[in-house]
This record gives sequence, structure tokens and C-alpha cells, in this order.
Amino acid sequence: MAEAKRSQWGSKVGFVLAAAGSAVGLGNLWKFPYITGENGGGAFVLIYLFCILLVGVPIMVGEVYVGKLAQKAPVGAFGDLTPLGSPWKLVGALGVLAGFVILSYYSVVAGWAMHYVYLAATGAFSGAETAEEIAAVGAHFGALYANPGANIFWHTLFMAITVGIVTVGIQKGVELASRIMMPALFVMLIALVIYATTLDGFDRAVGFVFGFHTDQLTGGGVLEALGHSFFTLSLGMGAMLTYGSYMKKEDGVVATSFIISGLDTAVALMACLALFPITFSYGMEAAAGPGLVFVNMPTAFAQMPGGTLWAILFFVLLTFAALTSAISLLEVVASYFIDELKWPRWRAVALTGGAIFLFGIPSALSGGTELFGSGFQSKIQSVFGGDGKNWFDSLDYLASNWMLPLGGLGIALFASWRIEEVKRREALLGERTEGAPLAAYLAWLWILRVVAPVAIVLVMLHALGVL
Ligand code: PFF
Repeated sequence: MAEAKRSQWGSKVGFVLAAAGSAVGLGNLWKFPYITGENGGGAFVLIYLFCILLVGVPIMVGEVYVGKLAQKAPVGAFGDLTPLGSPWKLVGALGVLAGFVILSYYSVVAGWAMHYVYLAATGAFSGAETAEEIAAVGAHFGALYANPGANIFWHTLFMAITVGIVTVGIQKGVELASRIMMPALFVMLIALVIYATTLDGFDRAVGFVFGFHTDQLTGGGVLEALGHSFFTLSLGMGAMLTYGSYMKKEDGVVATSFIISGLDTAVALMACLALFPITFSYGMEAAAGPGLVFVNMPTAFAQMPGGTLWAILFFVLLTFAALTSAISLLEVVASYFIDELKWPRWRAVALTGGAIFLFGIPSALSGGTELFGSGFQSKIQSVFGGDGKNWFDSLDYLASNWMLPLGGLGIALFASWRIEEVKRREALLGERTEGAPLAAYLAWLWILRVVAPVAIVLVMLHALGVL
């Protein structure tokens, strides 16, 4: 009965676009380019590609598969597929918590992107000629960061839009939004890359991103590549599991996981090929952190012909990418209440969205105030590491370096040991392999059983300073 009423994607393309929408986000357009720069370019990119292929894709297959099998959001999925009261449910619960935490600060950064669409549209990023005018463009970010009212305003607006889309539901909300925004995002990004190829700085950017500067690659960089592959593919917190739970029985898991990961990787690489040529062509260096998109890019736009249009294009692109990821984060949290507590969708979404919004307020105020005092922050830092600059950074560090890898570990073990055991008992080899060669299936199984867990444990030991 309940199953008959459960939402489903309208089509396979709809699922792929929504899942790619979850994966493609600030992680691709903002974080990937600067960590690539920091870690020596090409060698880091190569290792990142290995991580995506050898750990990311297999875990995604496992996650989507568990969701499709259970037809439930994370906590229920783990609960249903294992005996009552099983500790596996904790993996699902950790995912719900991670979605809550990540969306709270993700929305603040997405709010900055929206604010920049507004600034671009009002001509703030055009016609800068003198050094003073150019510096004034770069100064917008510092002013925004330290302005509590503006941060709260855009955070509120972004959360309201996210809540609106998720309230409408899977097909008419999440899927439709992704069907509109994702193709638009690809077109905008391709336009930016084509433009970037015409600039003087293109060759230098290619050397920067793809040149093998192995001297700059450290063990920490390798682990950062692995950690980032979780964040960028939306793995480890049940987002892909939840989206998989709305799949139709006849849709395959393996091919779609490859497509989603391929699209995500393509966007990350294209982002580098758009951002760095523009940065270098206008005489800037590759800044780290928010500076890359919120300072370098507007400064360049302000000096280029047609800058206002390019700026609008870029920040709409960033907003779309963030929005399709945010709706997946909210869907994970809300679907727990829909599936487990049988709340109506509107109530689950409004209440969880509202709670996340409130929890995001300290992040929105991170630049302007020391809300919890530095003692609180240094405590988080001493327990979990990270640069602990403020509440916002601490949450990001906690979620991306601890919650997602830990969740990924649980999902990998669950899919490869627990589910495999059940399926073997049912002798469902055909369903297990999805028509793939047995060797490929066994490779997948052992990656999830051994390779991925070892890799994840290494990341954690490194984060703890043991390695
Ligand atoms: N994959 C998103 C990004 O790269 O920005 C972030 C994200 C979305 C992480 C959804 C986790 C998640 F469940």
C-alpha cells in the first residue's frame, strides 16, 4: 500500500539529471579548482580521477543499489534490509545528520552566489578601469562577508527556494527543476570555457591544471583527493541512496552511476578550464577559498568587454549548481520524516527546512561576529582538526572529512557484505550483476569490501595525525 503511493522519477533521464544535479555543485565549481591548484595540478588531477573511478563510482553503485532495493530513505533502508534494531541504521542516521549540517552552511555560500547575480545585474561588475575601481570590485566580497543582514537575507531566500522545490515533490519539484537547470548549467559552462580558450591566459591555465608539478603533491594531497571525491559525488550520506529509492525497478544502477560520475568529473575539469584562464588573463593569481570565485572572477569580469553578461552567466551557473545540490540535501533529511514518521511531505519539508535554516544562522554570521566565542571553535578544532577559523569552516571540516567518509564506509560495507549475503541466499545472481560480466561484479564487490574501507580508514588516520 505505502509502496504504491511512493514517488518515482518520471524517467531515467530525470533520475540521471537529478542525481547529476546533486553531484555537480559548489564542490565542482569552487572547491575543485583551488584544491587542484594547491596540490600541484596534473598529478593531483590524475589521482583524483583514480579515486573517482576506483572508490567513488563503486560506492555510488552500492548506494544507489541499496536505495533502489529498499525503496526507502536511508534510515528505513538500512532498517528494512537488516533485522530490527540493527546498528546499520546508525549509518542512515549519520547521513540525515550530515545532510542537516552540510545544507546549513551550503545555503550561506549559495546565498553569496545569488547576491552576486544581483550585483552583476545591477552593473557592479563592469567598466572598471582605474586601479581603484578594480579594487572596489574585489572589495565587495569582504563587505558581504562581514554584513550579517545581507548574509541572513540571501540565506533565507535560498532556503525558501529550496524548500519550495522539495515541497512540490519528486517528479514535479526535484526532477523538473533538474531538467531545467542542469542542461542550462552545461550550456553556460561550455560557453565560459569556449570564451576562456580565446584568452591569453589559457595556455598558462592548462599548464597549471594539467602540468605534473609532482613536487607539490603530498600524502595529504592524495587523501584530500579521496575525501573530495566523496563530497563531489554526494556520497556517504544517503543522497544517492534516497534518489535511488525513487528509481523504477527496470532502470539499471551501474550505467547510470558511471554517467553521473562522468558528468560530475567533466564539470569539475571544465570549471578549471574556465576559471583559471580568466584569472590569469587579468593578471591575478589562483587564490584559494572563496576568493577564487567571489573576488577573482568579478574582478576579471569588471575589466572585460561584455563583463556584466558574463558575470550574470557565471553566477547564475553557480546558483543553479548549488540549488540542485541543496534540494538533494534537504530531500535526504525530509524523506526520513516522510518515510519513517509518515509525515505529509509539506510538513516534513517545512519543519526540517526551517530547522536547517535556523542552524545555518551562525554560519551566515561567521564573517561578522564571533557568535560562540573562540573557545568553542578551538574546542571543535582540537577534537576534529581543521583550521577552525570559524563556525562555518568547522562544520565544513566536520562534515566533509568525518561524516561523509564514515557514512561511505558504512554504505560500502553494508552493500558488499550484508546485501550480498542476502542476495546470495536468494540466489539472485542475475539481479546482483545486472548483466555485467561476473569478473566486473566481483571486482566491485572486493573494492567495496576491502579497497574502499582501507582507503577511508587511511584518510581518517591521516586526519587524526596518526599517519
Ligand atoms: N556534491 C555537492 C557538491 O559537489 O557541491 C555537495 C553535496 C551535495 C554533498 C549533496 C553531499 C550531498 F549529499
